[in-house]
Amino acid sequence: MAQTMTKKPAPPAVKLTKLLINNQWVDPAQGKTFDTLNPATGQTIAKVAEAGPADVDKAVKAARKALESGPWKNMDAADRGRLLFKLADLVEKNAEELATLESLNCGKTITDSRGDMQGVVNWFRYYAGWADKIEGKTVPVRGSFLSYTLRQPVGVVGQIIPWNFPLLMLAWKWGPALACGNTVVMKPAEQTPLTALRVAELAIEAGFPPGVINIINGYGETTGAALVVHPDVDKIAFTGHVDTAKIIQKAAADTLKRTTFELGGKSPNVIFADADMDQAVAGAFHAIYFHGGQCCTAGSRLFVEDKIRQDFVERLAEKAKQRKVGDPLDPKTEQGPQVSQDQMDKILGYIQLGEKRGARLMTGGQRIGDKGYFVEPTIFDNVKDDMAIAKDEIFGPVVSVLPFKKVDEVIQRANNTYYGLAAAVWTKDIDKAHLFAKEVKSGTVWVNCYHIVDTTTPFGGFKMSGQGRENGEAALEHYTETKTVTVKLG
Ligand code: NAI
Ligand code: MG
Repeated sequence: MAQTMTKKPAPPAVKLTKLLINNQWVDPAQGKTFDTLNPATGQTIAKVAEAGPADVDKAVKAARKALESGPWKNMDAADRGRLLFKLADLVEKNAEELATLESLNCGKTITDSRGDMQGVVNWFRYYAGWADKIEGKTVPVRGSFLSYTLRQPVGVVGQIIPWNFPLLMLAWKWGPALACGNTVVMKPAEQTPLTALRVAELAIEAGFPPGVINIINGYGETTGAALVVHPDVDKIAFTGHVDTAKIIQKAAADTLKRTTFELGGKSPNVIFADADMDQAVAGAFHAIYFHGGQCCTAGSRLFVEDKIRQDFVERLAEKAKQRKVGDPLDPKTEQGPQVSQDQMDKILGYIQLGEKRGARLMTGGQRIGDKGYFVEPTIFDNVKDDMAIAKDEIFGPVVSVLPFKKVDEVIQRANNTYYGLAAAVWTKDIDKAHLFAKEVKSGTVWVNCYHIVDTTTPFGGFKMSGQGRENGEAALEHYTETKTVTVKLG
């Protein structure tokens, strides 16, 4: 075991590239494909089937049929849970192959991909346990009536996910949807379609009936958009960019679909002078550079109390210079490539803007090599709140250091953003910690830690970072409809 963890794994063979509809691997009606790339080299790994509107319609029809008749509709809740447990076991059994495929297609380090696979297993098991514990209530109504509520599936659920945590986002979406008895049409990100197909194959092996899980790969503006406007889709669950969510919400309005959104952020990470410095430096480093900054909760606005700032930033820069950036399949690598040329160009563009506006570039700032999409871990010091690098989600290894002096001041500045996904505070003073936790407008707050996200804890955004919550019991709210039944007595 220890040996497999330190050896560089061989890239797996890619066999699955078609659409999955009704438990059949099918070619798209128009026969179109798109290339999926290895971001470490920029080279094509495989051609993947591209679903057009006719394929989306076929997948939705299969999902509708599975919802309304047959084994899934009539299955005991406990047996839905057993299927999810079985899928978790199969992912666990094939974790090394899946992690390698994830790293190949997404560029995340093999260490991070292995962590993600454990997450996938945890998420499926957590929601497997929920399947037979989703209960209604009896309600004390006025008059001679008995009223009770039933919790029923929302229906056919369209799920649109991004490329930064391809399988983990799949698990966050499938887990609660399937535990509640919905059926799913999923569109993975066009950059990272491969692992979803392999896990869908494992879902068939686990015994999920035809039509319960369907996968339609393709681009957002076409395949994704066709799913959003489809009149027979009851809900869209989306993770990605704020601007995409706005388009989806408008497009979903015509059919008044339910929507849930998990969007980005510009998360404030606040370091007080009384924090444990070793822990705070390591924490701030992990907060921004985990997965090359391609993380919705990335701690990209680093507020550092002015009296410790110089020392803090120097220590951070020292660590950044030593970070091993390179081949994601090499277990020694700490940071892989960005996912695509587009993402790399966006990041480099923001770095140029930062320099132009006069922020102080402490380290990094360049592309690494001319093959693949590698970017140096980058630190800007002395950033002003109104600079683009302090306001926009860069989604790369670029941190903006913002000096502050007072608690009230830093709370006000932390909240001065239209985002509100995550925030963190580093201090030994419990007064400051709890005051910050109460006042900061964000769905998650970490005290003396960062990026701790569990199956059990609600996750989502205040303000424009999202709508609804994923994970924990909270997710079940968004995958069930509540029905009130009232019976006249006597
Ligand atoms: P995106 O929001 O365009 O893509 C996410 C998913 O939405 C993909 O599956 C995509 O195909 C789909 N999509 C795109 N347009 C659509 C439409 N009109 N209708 C339906 N589905 C659509 O994000 P993109 O372009 O990949 O990345 C751009 C930026 O978005 C990143 O730089 C980052 O700032 C942010 N982002 C945030 C993520 C998060 O975890 N919150 C994840 C990925 C990106
Ligand atoms: Mg986009």
